[in-house]
Amino acid sequence: MKKERDEQVENVLTEIESEHDEVRDMLAKIDQAKRITWSHVEALYVTLKGHHEAEEHVLFPKVRPVDSQAEKLVEHLIEEHDEAETGLLAMIEKHKKDEQKFDWEKYGELAKLLREHMEEEESKLFKKARKAMTEEELKAALDPFETQEEKSKKSAKKEVK
Ligand SMILES: [Fe+2]
Ligand SMILES: [Fe+2]
Repeated sequence: MKKERDEQVENVLTEIESEHDEVRDMLAKIDQAKRITWSHVEALYVTLKGHHEAEEHVLFPKVRPVDSQAEKLVEHLIEEHDEAETGLLAMIEKHKKDEQKFDWEKYGELAKLLREHMEEEESKLFKKARKAMTEEELKAALDPFETQEEKSKKSAKKEVK
């Protein structure tokens, strides 16, 4: 399964889309849980932090100069990254301070935000990225994306330890 997925990944956009599918799976797993498993919430945070920072370092700087619409879009997407990360981290930290209750309402809001965010990227952001970059450039961006992602995931893991 993993291999099949990797073979379909050709450039930074297909990588992003495949990671969005992973996030959608993680959200669905939490949605369906009767009792919360905190390691799932922490894994979601780490995955998102890696994904977001890779987008912000590798893709967004290329998309931003396309036009004023692209600039506004990137600003808006970064705000949503911050909102989702801050919200999730606050829940995790509260839990670590011995607050066992899971705030399903807050989680629901963040999950909705994330789902809409990913859809917006797959439509609007991808369109601007294809304007900004050639197929070769999209392919070449894959390695730096993954390098940044691993680095960011490592530091996010320390945050939730
Ligand atoms: Fe994003
Ligand atoms: Fe994304």
